[in-house]
Amino acid sequence: MATITAAKTSPGSDAAGAADAAPRTRGIHHLALNTDDMKMTADYYVDVVGMKLVHAMKIPTGLGTGEGNRGNPPFENLRHYFFDMGQDSLLAFFEMPKGAKEKGDRDALAGMQHVAFSVTPDEFEAIQQRLKARGDDFLGPIEILPDLYSIYFFDPNGIRLEACCHPKEGAHPNVVGGVAQSRAVARAELETLSDDPAWLEKRLAGFKD
Ligand SMILES: [Fe+2]
Repeated sequence: MATITAAKTSPGSDAAGAADAAPRTRGIHHLALNTDDMKMTADYYVDVVGMKLVHAMKIPTGLGTGEGNRGNPPFENLRHYFFDMGQDSLLAFFEMPKGAKEKGDRDALAGMQHVAFSVTPDEFEAIQQRLKARGDDFLGPIEILPDLYSIYFFDPNGIRLEACCHPKEGAHPNVVGGVAQSRAVARAELETLSDDPAWLEKRLAGFKD
């Protein structure tokens, strides 16, 4: 493992948070979820959701229990698989031993309520067809924001998934632009948190008008 060194402060970082400053993060590297059946999970994410399996491993001995653990699940040699979820981002799963963990509460603090994937209009239709072919229920499509449609469904682990589509954007959905909000509307909401003018201006720095 390479030594992690502190990133140098980039020019213009003083302006971070301003409307014209780029975000400091570049999107999700990987999202790590849990299953107790990796084969079932791999079959579902490849065949139904439409991702490719790109890495299949067992975690090396020593990282599950004992001093080598750096936050991994506390079991040795777990399967840890990665799927390409598009746009250079990965979805990962750990396979817990059967019976070792109870199903979680997705509404718990620090739990994951759901994960939403952005899909093209063609894929939005195709995933609905694949769910129907399996006899899986799904909710929607629902227009959750103007011109933004979603379906909601559950993977076989009980993880709540969402597929989001901007039909008018075609193959190049404008994810961030699709949730654009006026500064005034955002301010009205933020004022329910604080009436400190300096705090409000800092939090509104990402809004253009
Ligand atoms: Fe959502």
